[in-house]
Amino acid sequence: MKQKKCTWHKLADSVAEISFSSNGMASVSLAGKTICLALHKDQLLACAQKCPHAGGIMANGHLDAVGNIVCPLHRYKFSLGNGRNVSGEGYFLKTFQVEIRKEGVFVGFEENNLFN
Ligand code: FES
Repeated sequence: MKQKKCTWHKLADSVAEISFSSNGMASVSLAGKTICLALHKDQLLACAQKCPHAGGIMANGHLDAVGNIVCPLHRYKFSLGNGRNVSGEGYFLKTFQVEIRKEGVFVGFEENNLFN
């Protein structure tokens, strides 16, 4: 899939510096925004803080066995790879690119489209 042009923001010097809850997720702020981070099988993924259905705080949810994020309010599931609502209710969760570089952990916000 072709990657969209992003503005990258440094989040931390390393993944170990990020404080994840026991559910494998963290709520973090950068560039004036709060987003949800999820750590699944050593893969770091990022999505919008709020669920597109009714605003559930995604970092308070959980990850299922294959790494989908499950909203804590009504348990709709979303792919963290592409934001697709895999439980079929027809919503779309904004996701963000994450890169772990020598200089640290970076999150990319699409230009002209920071948050949906
Ligand atoms: S608010 Fe997330 S599923 Fe309803």
